[in-house]
Amino acid sequence: MALFRRPSRPEDKADMQQPPESEPVQADAEVDAASTPLPSDVEEEAAVDTEETPMTEADHSTSQPEPASELVEDSTATPPVGPSGKPVRELPRIMAVANQKGGVGKTTTTVNLGAALAELGYRVLVVDLDPQGNATTGLGIERRNFEYSMYDVIMKEHPLEDVVEATSVRGLFVAPATLDLSGVEIELVSMFSRELRLKRAIESVIDDYDFVIIDCPPSLGLITINALAAAKEVLVPIQCEYYALEGLTQLRATLKLVASNLNPELELSTIVLTMFDSRTNLSTDVKNDVTEHFPDQVCATIIPRTVRLSEAPSFGQPITVFDPNSKGAKTYRKLAKEVSNGAPKRAG
Ligand SMILES: Nc1ncnc2c1ncn2[C@@H]1O[C@H](COP(=O)(O)OP(=O)(O)O)[C@@H](O)[C@H]1O
Ligand SMILES: [Mg+2]
Repeated sequence: MALFRRPSRPEDKADMQQPPESEPVQADAEVDAASTPLPSDVEEEAAVDTEETPMTEADHSTSQPEPASELVEDSTATPPVGPSGKPVRELPRIMAVANQKGGVGKTTTTVNLGAALAELGYRVLVVDLDPQGNATTGLGIERRNFEYSMYDVIMKEHPLEDVVEATSVRGLFVAPATLDLSGVEIELVSMFSRELRLKRAIESVIDDYDFVIIDCPPSLGLITINALAAAKEVLVPIQCEYYALEGLTQLRATLKLVASNLNPELELSTIVLTMFDSRTNLSTDVKNDVTEHFPDQVCATIIPRTVRLSEAPSFGQPITVFDPNSKGAKTYRKLAKEVSNGAPKRAG
């Protein structure tokens, strides 16, 4: 899977200063402990290869003409296709915004996609699972405004309903995080059903929302595992920068692990390219590379690099409020349309 580590154009190699293949895997108890029983990469390879691959000797030897039964099974389950050309996903949707790299646009995407979905009339809950609390402050919620946070929900089984705060955007709510959440990684280790704390909490409020968007910290520790166990889908922001695809192999291994042990429904459904700079070849290279590897997941809407997007959080506002006519606001609205794909709002 080395191919996910970097843009594959040979002429980029000199610039990439690629670390050696034997680069140590991040020391992470969950990932390490379970990395052995992972199934082979067959599934991943299958997703990457196109169906048009010509038959090989091996294919002939099986003498199975066509996997017709699979096609039939698929077609019976096909949901209606939405404006994006993809099947409409049923609400409610629970999406973990994950990428163990920091600074790739997880929080920016959580906050602004959340706000734009709320603008479309959906009820949206942003769950801040990063001890940095950037989604919380970025939505205008200050520490002094609330008593309980996601720490209490996960460690003390405090009702999630009680920590949810309304934001300045109608239909957009946030379950805030504070620095004490960082203690969860250590404190939770010895606790019963430690990976399923968030899942239980979200189940208790899910009827109130169309979208629950979970902003993960930049690691693959227990907090992110809780998010992946609770979610149905994973949204991965990828920054159009050097080493964009580095770490994706490890992230996918973690997703597989969670899928096989905790959450069989989990799916990497959505990839959002962020901080795209049309003036650089690098951005275009990353875009082409990601599109080649993840044709079904990558969103057609690409988030540009704009200063306004980076200014909005210090005003405690999503971009749609801070500068409604800016390029960033327009693009996140477009992304919200693409992601929601015309899904009918739920009653109530
Ligand atoms: N499209 C963008 N254009 C310009 N700056 C951005 C953009 N997206 C994110 N940023 C800025 O980049 C930094 C990292 O983004 P952030 O969303 O916090 O990443 P993460 O949550 O993955 O760590 C922040 O300062 C943010 O304001
Ligand atoms: Mg963040």
